[in-house]
Amino acid sequence: MCGIVGYIGQLDAKEILLKGLEKLEYRGYDSAGIAVTTNDGIQVFKEVGRIANLRQVVDASVETTAGIGHTRWATHGVPNYSNAHPHQSASGRFTLVHNGVIENYHLLQEELLQGVEMKSDTDTEVIVQLVEHFSNEGLETEEAFRKTLSVVKGSYALGLLDAEQPEVIFVAKNKSPLLVGVGDTFNVIASDAMAMLQVTDQYVELHDKEIVLVTSDSIQIKTLDGTTVERAPYTAELDMSDIEKGTYPHYMLKEMDEQPTVIRKIISAYTEDGELTIDPSIAQALSDADRLYIIAAGTSYHAGLVGKQYFEKIAKIPVEVHISSEFGYNMPLLSEKPLFIFISQSGETADSRQVLVKIKEMGHPSLTITNVPGSTLSREADHTLLLHAGPEIAVASTKAYVAQVAVLAITAYLEAKAKGLAVDFDLKAELAVAANAIQSVIDEKDAIKNVTDTALATTRNAFFIGRGIDYCVSMEGALKLKEISYIQAEGFAGGELKHGTIALIEDGTPVFALVSQKSVSLNIRGNVKEVVARGANPIILSMEGMEEAGDALVLPAVHELLTPLVTVVPLQLISYYAALYRGCDVDQPRNLAKSVTVE
Ligand code: F6R
Repeated sequence: MCGIVGYIGQLDAKEILLKGLEKLEYRGYDSAGIAVTTNDGIQVFKEVGRIANLRQVVDASVETTAGIGHTRWATHGVPNYSNAHPHQSASGRFTLVHNGVIENYHLLQEELLQGVEMKSDTDTEVIVQLVEHFSNEGLETEEAFRKTLSVVKGSYALGLLDAEQPEVIFVAKNKSPLLVGVGDTFNVIASDAMAMLQVTDQYVELHDKEIVLVTSDSIQIKTLDGTTVERAPYTAELDMSDIEKGTYPHYMLKEMDEQPTVIRKIISAYTEDGELTIDPSIAQALSDADRLYIIAAGTSYHAGLVGKQYFEKIAKIPVEVHISSEFGYNMPLLSEKPLFIFISQSGETADSRQVLVKIKEMGHPSLTITNVPGSTLSREADHTLLLHAGPEIAVASTKAYVAQVAVLAITAYLEAKAKGLAVDFDLKAELAVAANAIQSVIDEKDAIKNVTDTALATTRNAFFIGRGIDYCVSMEGALKLKEISYIQAEGFAGGELKHGTIALIEDGTPVFALVSQKSVSLNIRGNVKEVVARGANPIILSMEGMEEAGDALVLPAVHELLTPLVTVVPLQLISYYAALYRGCDVDQPRNLAKSVTVE
């Protein structure tokens, strides 16, 4: 949800900012801008659309060694030129980029900025106008910035330039992610280390409500009340090749292809002395709980639904799975000893974080399962389990989902063993089988593309049906298709269609059916017959041993609890090919952003 960068040093700042923004495009891509300090003051370049559009309007002849940049995912105000960041104060002295949401911006505008003509519809502009307002009252810039932050309510990661102090970037953070990167003759700021890996792998974490003064050779971190904070940098363990597309046309295709490797990495990361293992304190937290509450959004929520099956079937612990944006505001009655499990690829999802904040206040223990070490949800929870999936850049989540399912399986399995429950399979071996099965599905891309082209070329809508664990995967298949191909899609429990939704079936409506569970395979085939009788075009994806003549794809058999790792893969590929066929932007679908840091 918006990405920000900043650079101050000796090199050409424009190019570093633009390259940094290109790496942050996953956070928002409806407009972008940079502001740079020059001998003639601050110059701002902005454009609607992608960074490529911004590149076209940046004056290549401008000489600058400092600046800030922003790529936007609109919250307040439509994506247009005037709402694009950076925003400037009335006199043009102060220039600001912002990621987050200022909740009381209207009130502040009415109370403190009467008579200031606003140039945009954004909440951000209020911040920069307030800095000027307090500066006009005689405060030094740092104090004016501090005073502004003391009156704004909400989330922010901010980079501020003052035309009269061009040797400093003023920085602040509350709830939105922001790092300061350390160089020899320069320093940088970025929403994500990935953006500035081009110049440094040394980063300093910022905490909420801290202000930082960044110059080319110093970084001063202070709390809002002015106390200086010392914090050592850490090395960002990111490889440039992890964040490049290489020869792939799209990140999503690269990330789907990485899935077998991700499973193997997880097996290795969670193995010690030849046995699967997790941190004993996490095992203890699970054993202490009388009920697990899985909290997540979107694809991670769908992984959570699979996790519920694992914890209940293997480890015999009752589980509730909740959508994070609902849970915080409509909390159910809790058990006596709950353990909260947050599942989040990014570890930054604001909807999930608001739940974490609330349950911490209530004194409940928490575990975050995330792909991003050091992310907010990881830092703030009591325990973390990492996904080891490598950076996921395509907006549509693929490899993180299989990683989440695999880590949930390991956690439930080890908990069952810790409780002394009889577990009649070797999960490590079964995960290795699943990795090979995923590879076999990936190797069948041509067949999957053919299925897609015939089933989805012109359809308005599509249904995904399954029963039990296949129903969980159906929902994920439908989400993938909607988000990148814009085809109206729904995932349903096979038996539920006849209770209403079957009315939507018309001649040729594609219905994807998953058949991977022996105990319900006849039932789901019965549901397929019901929709076929009403004109649907059935596309059946079955697992070896359950296949029948006419099935569109037969997937290699894996342990019945691990089928989501395999059945999801053709559904991801189907969405990918449908999006390509329809000319959609696969990696950056409309209206979306990768890391959802607003509630
Ligand atoms: C869909 C997708 C989203 C995310 C959701 C939660 O492909 O990526 O639905 O799963 O926004 O994000 P995280 O997992 O980062 O909390």
